[in-house]
Formats: sequence, C-alpha cells, structure tokens
Amino acid sequence: MNKIMRILAIETSCDETAIAIIDGGDDKKHPQFLVRSSIVSSQVAIHAAWGGVVPNIAKREHQKNLVPVLLQALGEADFLASRNKRQEARKKSGVVLNSILEREPELLEQFKKNIAPLSTPNIDAIAVTQGPGLEPALWVGVNFARALSYIWAKPLVGINHMEGHVAVALLHAKIKNKKPLPPIAYSLELIRYPAIALLVSGGHTELVLVQKPFHYKVVGETRDDAAGEAFDKVAKILGLPYPGGPEISRMAEKGDATTFAFPRPMMSAPNLDFSFSGLKTSVLYSVQKLKETKLLTAKTKRDIAASFQEAVVETLTRKTLKAIQATKAKTFILGGGVAANTELRGRLKKTISETNPTMQIYLPATSLTGDNALMIATAAYAKLLNNKNILTKKSSRILWKIMRPEAHLRIGE
Ligand code: KG4
Ligand code: ZN
Repeated sequence: MNKIMRILAIETSCDETAIAIIDGGDDKKHPQFLVRSSIVSSQVAIHAAWGGVVPNIAKREHQKNLVPVLLQALGEADFLASRNKRQEARKKSGVVLNSILEREPELLEQFKKNIAPLSTPNIDAIAVTQGPGLEPALWVGVNFARALSYIWAKPLVGINHMEGHVAVALLHAKIKNKKPLPPIAYSLELIRYPAIALLVSGGHTELVLVQKPFHYKVVGETRDDAAGEAFDKVAKILGLPYPGGPEISRMAEKGDATTFAFPRPMMSAPNLDFSFSGLKTSVLYSVQKLKETKLLTAKTKRDIAASFQEAVVETLTRKTLKAIQATKAKTFILGGGVAANTELRGRLKKTISETNPTMQIYLPATSLTGDNALMIATAAYAKLLNNKNILTKKSSRILWKIMRPEAHLRIGE
C-alpha cells in the first residue's frame, strides 16, 4: 500500500447500528484494505418481541446506539487521542448541529456531549447508507453522517445498501491475525464481466446484471414478498421467533424436504422475476390443516421447514441459472442476509459449477452476510478508488447540507 484512503462507514438501514473504519490502499490493480474497526450493534432482540422490525423503534435505537458505537469504533482504531480545545469553533457549530439533528434530539444531546469535543480524526471520507431501507432508520444514519461531515469538514459519500451486499462478497481475507479481530486485511477481487448477482435479503430479492464496474441493471425481482420476508413469515406461522431465516434453516436440517409439495410460483415463467407470497400462503394452509387434525408435531414442523426451504432454494437456483444463460455472465455473486443459508449456498455453488465450469463464483463470508458497516465501507472504497474526484469535487463538501435518505433507492440509480 502506498497512500492510504481512510474511510469511516455508517449503516442504519434496518435493525443493525453499525460503524466501520478501514484503511484502503490506492493501487487500483490491487485493491486492498485493513479493517481498523467494525462494530455491529444489533437490535434484533428488541424487535423480536414485536415479531419483526418496527421502524420507529429502529429509529429510537439507532439514536441511542450511534454515539457509543462510534466511540467504540474510534477507540479500536486508535482515534480517541486528545480533546479539542477550540471551544469557540464548537460554539459556532452548535447552531448548525441543532438544525442537522433537530429530529433526533436524543442523538443531538449525546453528539454535543461526546463527539463535538473530540479532535478531528484523521479520515478521508465518511460513507453512509443512503438507501434502500426503512426511512426513519435511514434518516438517523444520514443525519448523523451529515453532522460528522460538517463538524469534521470531511466529504460525505452516499452508498447503496445493496451495492454493499455485492461488494462484501468480493472480499478475500488476506491476513488472519491470531488475536481477535480487528485488524484484518482484505483484498477486493477483480472480477470478470458481465456478472450476475443474486441479492436476497429481508426487503429484496433481485437478479442484477453487472455489465462493468458500478453499472447495475435489475433483470429480475420479486413481484411480492422478498425471500427473507418469506422465511420470516413462515417462521411466524410455525411459531418461531424473528428473524425466521436462521430458525427455519436450522429446523430444515433435520426435516424431510420431500414431505410437502409446496408450489414454486413463477419458477417456469419465461422471465427472471420471483413471487413468494403464494408459497407462504400455501404453507399457512398446510399448517392450519395439520392443526385441525392435530398432526402439527415437532416432526411435521421440521418437514414443513425443509419443504419450504427447498421450494425457495430451487426457485432461486433455477432463475439464477436462467439469468446466467441469458446474459452470458462469467461471474456469479451472492449477497444479502439470506446468503447465510447453507442449503442455498451449497446448491448454487454445485449447480452453477456443474453447468458452467469456468464461472467465477463469489459467496460472501457467512460472518458478513447480515447487515454491517464493513460492506458499506467496501462499496465506498471501490467507488473512491475508481473515482477519486468524488472526494475533491466541491459538491461532496456541501453534501452535508443537502443529503437525504432514499428509502426506495434501486441499485444502479
Ligand atoms: O440483508 P439483511 O441482513 O437485512 C436486510 O437488508 O433485509 O437480511 C435479513 C434477512 C431476514 O429476512 C432473515 O430472516 C434472513 O435475511 N436470513 C436468512 C438466514 N439468515 C438470515 N434466511 C434464510 N436462511 C438463513 N440462514
Ligand atoms: Zn441488507
């Protein structure tokens, strides 16, 4: 590494409050970075009581968590040195801070007390998830990033959450330190184009064509529920806690996937779209019937979980193969929370490599499939490395004045 590009990234699109700091190298041919810190504070336990993510609770929790998470990240990255003595400058900034964080009063108070007095850390850019995601949750992260950008006079970069899920799949761990993480060094794989990405999360199920770096086109998507949403809803039907994906996949391991013939909606349709809502309804009817006949046992529940998972995995795999064929893709990338699913990972890898032996296949590390800020830092790093102008353009310095979240932002827009 020659010159270092240091990025602080913030993710608050759903129910994880996350901040990461990376030191990126500036060699485009060998993109690599060191993780100085990567903190994820999960709200899952809080939302589980409600059976799913409640946007306003997510907003409240992000407000509470952001300052402690930032302090922890700065501490791990060795940026918590001296306190800033320029009180005058801070007094001036107070008025602007009030307006940036006026809708997050609790965060504003913590910010003034704990962040404003810190000396400016030696970073080059602040990256933040701009969308897609839950609007109230996104607002907190974006306003927090704006406040930091203002007070530290650092450029702000808005990142698409789904692009983060793509980028993180391309990480290759280089040095595994013996001591607990961080730091860890990663290189970013240079892939062959075109690539097809299957992005499966709680809010999205899409097949994305990547013709060249940073050029994304959604070629297939769900018409109703997302794959992760289907896992969560079926888990609820079976009386399992939120989030349902990990629960269902654990139960499915011991179940018989051939017991229930659940539908595979749109699997044979000539397009690349998906539909999971009918599948969920079919599971609901089966469970109701089993309940009436008193046959809903631990065993039939496991068989339902396995049969449901099989229907999702088969549909996703079949459509992915179709997309690869239609686009003559040379690379396959998997991303999103559902990418943690062992059956899905195994099936995609096996089926794709059997039918396309020369295909490059990238599956994200299971520790990075859920929402985190390292994925946002990675996407920002790739962007900045390939277009350093983003940092020098005047517009980036005034972004803190105008940036807003985009709850329905699509990848490539
Ligand atoms: O990407 P993500 O962490 O958050 C969103 O951006 O939505 O994805 C969360 C989704 C949830 O629906 C969760 O149930 C699902 O990913 N998920 C899984 C597994 N682990 C998480 N779905 C199936 N199998 C899993 N092992
Ligand atoms: Zn996500």
